[in-house]
Amino acid sequence: MGRGPLVATGFGANGMTRALFIAGTDTGIGKTHAACTVLHALRSMGRSACGMKPVASGCIDTPQGLRNDDALALLAASSTPQPSYGQINPIALREPLSPHLAAAHEGVTIALQPLQAAFAELSARYDTVVVEGVGGWRVPLALPGLFAADIAKSMALPVILVVGLRLGCLSHALLTAEAIQADGCQLIGWIGNRIDPQMAAVDENIGTLRTLLPAPCLGILPYGLAAERAASLLDRVAMGF
Ligand SMILES: Nc1ncnc2c1ncn2[C@@H]1O[C@H](COP(=O)(O)OP(=O)(O)OP(=O)(O)O)[C@@H](O)[C@H]1O
Ligand SMILES: [Mg+2]
Repeated sequence: MGRGPLVATGFGANGMTRALFIAGTDTGIGKTHAACTVLHALRSMGRSACGMKPVASGCIDTPQGLRNDDALALLAASSTPQPSYGQINPIALREPLSPHLAAAHEGVTIALQPLQAAFAELSARYDTVVVEGVGGWRVPLALPGLFAADIAKSMALPVILVVGLRLGCLSHALLTAEAIQADGCQLIGWIGNRIDPQMAAVDENIGTLRTLLPAPCLGILPYGLAAERAASLLDRVAMGF
């Protein structure tokens, strides 16, 4: 399954995408939904693919340990044989807070090294690893200066920005794209997610995003369409699949 070591940009020697980071304009706007859609798109092309949620807060206690809904959804959307839960979610925090606060409350120190180690294990087993961020791009992981963005930066992952299509998303999307690029990450494109079925002037807002965002639209995910079915709506060529 593995195709050798990752090159710096997350693309293999043949130009195929080997890893992606799924960023979002905010929390609760569809990063997990979009990441699962990307996983299904990869798998429908015969590629082995695995999700990863490096840091998750709001986990629940189970007999197997702390578990997070996002990580479980990514696991379910991953190729079989699936990885272990701990590989896809190395940092599982109980409280539904910003990770730096949940970690502090639980006496956990979030550092990049264990995340990178788990990512390397997954990269060796699957053609592509789809890494979901936590909250928005600048969510703190540890004070004074470790942020969600540093996961993507430290692993040199190409970034897809998921825009939750609702009132206010234009500024969130533009600022996030600006920050991704200012951090030296490659923004390969954006996915619009119809999180609000009542949103007014949707097509005009999507047109505005197409005009102003500095990367191509990779697809628009309709409201209420399951990830497996939405997979065909993604622009696989633009994603390097
Ligand atoms: N296209 C959609 N249609 C309908 N419901 C959606 C859609 N996208 C996401 N949702 C729902 O919205 C909620 C938030 O989506 P999701 O969990 O994917 O967001 P997220 O950005 O990953 O959130 P978090 O910051 O917690 O990781 C979920 O209940 C999900 O089922
Ligand atoms: Mg999520």
